[in-house]
Amino acid sequence: MTLSEFETVADAAAVASQDPESLFEGVDPAALADRVGTPFHAYSAAAIRRRIAELQQALQGLDALVCFAVKANPNRAILTLVADAGLGADIVSGGELRRSLEAGIAPKRIVFSGVGKSEQEIDAALAAGIARFNLESRDELECLDRLARERGVEACAAVRINPDVDAGTHEKISTGRAENKFGVPIDEARCWFAERMRHPNVRLDGLHVHIGSQILDLEPFRRAFARVAAFRRELAAAGHAIASIDVGGGFGVRYRNGESRLDAQAWAGVLREAFADYDGRFVVEPGRWLVAEAGLLLTRVLRVKRGVERDFLVLDAAMNDLARPSLYDAWHEIVPLHGAARAMRRYDVVGPVCETGDTFARDRLLPECAAGDLVAILGTGAYGASMASTYNSRPLAAEVLLDDGRYSIVRRRQSYEEMTAGESAGEDWTTP
Ligand code: LLP
Repeated sequence: MTLSEFETVADAAAVASQDPESLFEGVDPAALADRVGTPFHAYSAAAIRRRIAELQQALQGLDALVCFAVKANPNRAILTLVADAGLGADIVSGGELRRSLEAGIAPKRIVFSGVGKSEQEIDAALAAGIARFNLESRDELECLDRLARERGVEACAAVRINPDVDAGTHEKISTGRAENKFGVPIDEARCWFAERMRHPNVRLDGLHVHIGSQILDLEPFRRAFARVAAFRRELAAAGHAIASIDVGGGFGVRYRNGESRLDAQAWAGVLREAFADYDGRFVVEPGRWLVAEAGLLLTRVLRVKRGVERDFLVLDAAMNDLARPSLYDAWHEIVPLHGAARAMRRYDVVGPVCETGDTFARDRLLPECAAGDLVAILGTGAYGASMASTYNSRPLAAEVLLDDGRYSIVRRRQSYEEMTAGESAGEDWTTP
């Protein structure tokens, strides 16, 4: 059994209470916690490979390049695993570009998205020779044209369409409505193509759409794809050939018992149907779907605090290690690993950070816990470590890759010196 093989998290919890190693690819979590210290993020390599294979299977027969959205989990070991499986990268910063190249992802498999690319970042990506820029404003198109001319190269680009579709997900991670900052309306995109000759160093032959994240329903995809497909037909009729359509990411995963992750096969069916008359390349940019369920955050109970109205389970992990519950009120299953059958109790599960928002769960029914117990927070492989901070001067947690009964520390716990490196007391004053 590995992490993502459990049909429901209840299964995982049941198995974990008798056989905690099952959650850890055959590695004993207690021994691992002693060795690495808590909290730490752990990822199952096998679970990630399985997700990749499933997606590749769903896309069979299509000319499709899967570009992992690096922001979901940029750890070097994860990017290497992804590169070894033949995937490319969807990047949104110069930092992600460097990480992807260093992990061995070929530049021709890298696409650059994002609403605020700086000149330096665009230039670095041109120098690296990436496959494609997903452009989000006219200003960016002009900048890309200028920088490509200075380098004497032609840049491939796609225009990111804002299809004005509600993805039906949390508002903070919705990107496809007209009111959102992302993409441009079809009317504007139409002008970009009509005026293509004004930007001779940009080969504008791609379309891009990404309507949001953690989408569990196929309908928003169907609506967005229909708009992009109709626009592609219109462009083709006007003589503008489209060679690449980037259909984004956003596939939802199973965070909670009773949920099911987006079915890749069904999603690919929607894609095939919408673009039945298109024979160019697809780019797909999933992040979460590939890695979320392959990760967990292992933490230890510091103490149980009996409050006036509630009992608090105080963990040694906090919102700085996993921000999703405090940012999006996100639900993550919580599994005590003490192994013994215990009575059930209700807890507010909290971290040590000095904010009430530092709460992983409220009023959660869990087997009774005591100080020192290990507790796994599930579904943290995406947007967990990648969104961590050192708030409250808590060094970044370690990250561990698990594979077939073995583990590798793929990020050591940050030391105090590393955390404060680069700071000074402000002694060297100068004027510009
Ligand atoms: N492509 C673009 C242009 C994106 O902006 C994103 C995510 C993705 C692909 C990958 O989306 P995914 O397949 O992972 O859903 N921090 C939030 C999620 C933010 C997603 C941002 N953009 C969370 O923890 O829920």
